[in-house]
Amino acid sequence: MAELSSYRWTILGVFLVCLTLVGSLLIYWPSLLNTFHGPKQTQSSSPVNVTKTTTVLIWYWGFGFNQGIRKNVCKERFGIPNCILSDDRSLFPSADFIVFHNRELITGQQRLPLHLPRPQNQGWVWFSIESPAHNGNLKRFAGKFNYTMSYRLDADFFMPYGWLVPHDVGPGMTVHDFIPKDKSHLACWIVSNYAAHHRRTRVYNRLKQVIKVEVYGGAVHRRLNSKDKLPTISHCYFYLAFENSEFQDYISEKLWSNALQGGAVPVVLGPSRKNYEAMIPKDSFIHVDDFSSVEELGQFLKQVAEDRERYASYFKWKLNYTVAHTSNWLVEPQCRICTKINTLQRPKVYSDLQSWENK
Ligand SMILES: *[C@@H]1O[C@H](CO)[C@@H](O)[C@H](O)[C@H]1NC(C)=O
Ligand SMILES: *[C@@H]1O[C@H](CO)[C@@H](O)[C@H](O)[C@H]1NC(C)=O
Ligand SMILES: *[C@@H]1O[C@H](CO)[C@@H](O)[C@H](O)[C@H]1NC(C)=O
Repeated sequence: MAELSSYRWTILGVFLVCLTLVGSLLIYWPSLLNTFHGPKQTQSSSPVNVTKTTTVLIWYWGFGFNQGIRKNVCKERFGIPNCILSDDRSLFPSADFIVFHNRELITGQQRLPLHLPRPQNQGWVWFSIESPAHNGNLKRFAGKFNYTMSYRLDADFFMPYGWLVPHDVGPGMTVHDFIPKDKSHLACWIVSNYAAHHRRTRVYNRLKQVIKVEVYGGAVHRRLNSKDKLPTISHCYFYLAFENSEFQDYISEKLWSNALQGGAVPVVLGPSRKNYEAMIPKDSFIHVDDFSSVEELGQFLKQVAEDRERYASYFKWKLNYTVAHTSNWLVEPQCRICTKINTLQRPKVYSDLQSWENK
């Protein structure tokens, strides 16, 4: 009898364990796959229920680009109420958040106001949209910042270079309606910062031996002004959206503005394919690492360009999404701080910003 009941308990126990496993698998399935499940909900235009006014102080302008804002810019431009954005330093004692753009701190052009009495509830925000290769040594900021604003998905204030917005196309539209006509170049690349040690330079040097690559930009004295950029890219089957450095989540305007908006299929070099798939559908781009050699990549691009349907399949996302990016990266994300105050952890301190960045 005793044996039988313990046997029953064992069965029940195993059953419960299985149930828990299946349950957590269902819950964590999306994050396990880490594939694109629609845009991250941080760019929501409807602000949360904010009753108290929040003051966000911009201590100095990134790269010195003074935006000449008015105090109610967040309401006027982005419909965000109860949110004061200002660059008036006299607001220091009452500011809820202070935003510091990293570049000026690491060059010594600007300093943190460590001499001022810092209110306990004030959040200092470290702001950079550059990759760790260009952010300098952040060890000096240990314990200084409460929040981060960056292209990193795990930043407190996520500020991507672009994102997809769901949209409905008219009935009867097919993917072919979204592919620019007059494709005359197989692959194009715009490069201003050309360095022999970049991995992308080595890939390009081998790729150009397999296929013809049209190169534009300062590096080859073929600068495109901003109005010619997208029309030029639209004539290319593929666009080499090669990042200057490879870091988690670092996916710049090369993908969003140049390739996706220009109407060329992105050939990406940057973080892993999995990382790209968290931001865009997996069948919308070609990853350099999908191939065991650059020669293979070149042959593949040639084949796809010659196959109308196969090429068109890379544009399927256009039936459901459009590309968006911030209208002003020095003002809009700063205003959006006000819409996130209810979800912030507080207090919070980055006791080691450098390790966070290297993660
Ligand atoms: C916002 O929140 C306040 C207090 O939490 C509540 O009294 C008010 O009704 C809310 N307003 C809206 C529009 O939800
Ligand atoms: C994407 O758009 C197409 C065409 O409009 C539609 O048939 C399809 O259901 C959409 N898919 C999703 C996931 O919304
Ligand atoms: C911000 O960090 C400082 C430590 O540098 C801490 O004293 C303060 O309480 C933090 N504020 C918030 C809002 O987390």
